[in-house]
Amino acid sequence: MLTAPNEVLQRTGGRPVSSIVYDEQTIAGRVQELGAAITEYYPDGDLLVLGLLKGSFIFLSDLVRQIRRPLQIDFLVASSYGAQKISSGSVKLLYDPETRLEGKHIMLVEDVIDTGTTLRRLLSLLSARSPRSLSVCALLDKGIMTERPSEIRFIGFQAPKAFLVGYGLDHAEDFRHLPFIADLS
Ligand code: IMP
Ligand code: MG
Repeated sequence: MLTAPNEVLQRTGGRPVSSIVYDEQTIAGRVQELGAAITEYYPDGDLLVLGLLKGSFIFLSDLVRQIRRPLQIDFLVASSYGAQKISSGSVKLLYDPETRLEGKHIMLVEDVIDTGTTLRRLLSLLSARSPRSLSVCALLDKGIMTERPSEIRFIGFQAPKAFLVGYGLDHAEDFRHLPFIADLS
């Protein structure tokens, strides 16, 4: 169902978003395909879906309902340090999953891969815990990240190099609840 312009403004409190990049139907269709691909991909064994908060919360909740195999869910909260986002500041875990990772298939779920700095550091941190396998499922990929880790296996959309909000993605904590993804620029 397409969201009418006045309904968009109702949701944003009158703040305009310039265009809807992925509407609800488009997202739902792609999430269904991803779920099928993930169901197909994983062999037997424990699967732990690890959502990176906060951005992945809506995507993850839709995605896991499209995966037709047993799995468990946990979350990570990471915080980047360093003067600039692009700088090689270290990543600190503010919430560490309670579930043991050892011997399990771990699928890290991300909202968007931009520079990939956070992702790169999380992968090295998680692989040190001896998972049986480690892969990444990201809803959006801006195609900016260079020397891409082989763990990046599932991508929802090759996204434009714009600032996107909605479906979990925020701007200063606003707009996460929009059911579609919009360009804020
Ligand atoms: P990276 O470390 O540069 O890949 O940035 C990753 C994080 O920055 C994502 O998990 C998002 O939280 C945030 N981010 C990057 N691009 C966008 C965007 O277009 N909209 C909202 N958040 C973004
Ligand atoms: Mg953010």
